[in-house]
Amino acid sequence: MLRKLLIGTMLAGGLVAGYSATTYAAGGSVEVLHWWTSGGEAAALDVLKKKLESQGITWKDMPVAGGGGEQAMTTLRARVTAGDPPTAVQALGYDITDWAKQGVVGDLSDVANKEGWDKVIPGALQNFAKYDGKWIAAPVNVHSTNWLWINKKDLDAAGGKAPESWDELIAVLDKMKANGIIPIVGGGNAWNAATMFDSVVLSLGTDFYKASMVDLDPAALSGDKMVEAFTRLSKLRSYVDDNFSGREWNLDSAMVIEGKAGMQIMGDWAKGEFVHAKKKPGEDFVCIRFPGTQGAVTFNSDMFMMFKVGEDKKAAQLQMASDIMSPDFQSSFNVVKGSVPARTDVPDTAFDACGKKGIKDLAEANEKGTLFGSMSQGYASPAAIKNAMYDVITREYNGDIDPKEAAKELAAAVAAAKG
Ligand code: GAL
Repeated sequence: MLRKLLIGTMLAGGLVAGYSATTYAAGGSVEVLHWWTSGGEAAALDVLKKKLESQGITWKDMPVAGGGGEQAMTTLRARVTAGDPPTAVQALGYDITDWAKQGVVGDLSDVANKEGWDKVIPGALQNFAKYDGKWIAAPVNVHSTNWLWINKKDLDAAGGKAPESWDELIAVLDKMKANGIIPIVGGGNAWNAATMFDSVVLSLGTDFYKASMVDLDPAALSGDKMVEAFTRLSKLRSYVDDNFSGREWNLDSAMVIEGKAGMQIMGDWAKGEFVHAKKKPGEDFVCIRFPGTQGAVTFNSDMFMMFKVGEDKKAAQLQMASDIMSPDFQSSFNVVKGSVPARTDVPDTAFDACGKKGIKDLAEANEKGTLFGSMSQGYASPAAIKNAMYDVITREYNGDIDPKEAAKELAAAVAAAKG
């Protein structure tokens, strides 16, 4: 208890051992392109805006709605092509690497070296935040996708036990259906269906997830286990309401928050919606790892990629990078966002039970070698391959192709995308 108190006090004063903030700017402005437009996301982003404004830096907001950021990346391409990139852009995984290859991103090494980012950011994130040995992005958080969010009242009415296996999940879904509520929501667009598929594939084994989603092994992509994964995805689809198509992930979350739907398979940005609605874990909702994925984590980290900008914008840009990586921000932002800190030296003091579980699961998966980049969030393979998978997954989810055909097409689509 004393340790927690001590860390809490140190954290409050931004005094995490060995950390010292850098001051680059006391003025100027940053233009930020992002897709954080839901209630929870906007509340989290406000933490960063307020921090910058307290330093006299004006925030020029450039929100582009759309779960997963596909529309945001399209807008970014237009801005960069016009030779007018924003100061900072929310980006994920291989998208960051692709931009770095084009030589249009800035160099954050000065602030990274001064503040010792190499020592506190896990290697799995550095693989994307650094390019050619230089820091090019500031990691804000670590999200993970293999979560199941369950309305507590609906779960209690369905027996009260959170499912730990596929069979137990189906039993709870059947009970919720009998109780007259929508058992599960999701899959409204390709990104959402792919986010669900992350968990279904992982629940069939960590080796299978790595072989199929990370190593892109043709046998794993086309084999019987992938047929089973698609069969299970279709089974989940059979419990979803008929109005799912086109519904954004945060509207799914709202249905679970209100109890209209029993559960949602979604990354822990969904938790941000529950927090924003003032819901409490254990009382209003239950957060568990998707059944069968306990002990493993499929992760994605939101990073602010900093583009090459004129001298007049550099100080404010570096100040933003420094602010993002400060321990106090990493705690206060992630408590609201539903994710966990990107820094490994931030205590879980301010986090609720789900947040504490997220931090613990991440550390354990990192330790055990069961931490994988999320396919659906662009941390397992480059966009061309990710989008090829999205296309097959969403067609199977919508019943246009059956599981056997889907597994065959998945292997073919990945092979074609690999070129
Ligand atoms: C993810 C992103 C989250 C959240 C989510 C829904 O890719 O990492 O921060 O924005 O999309 O849009």
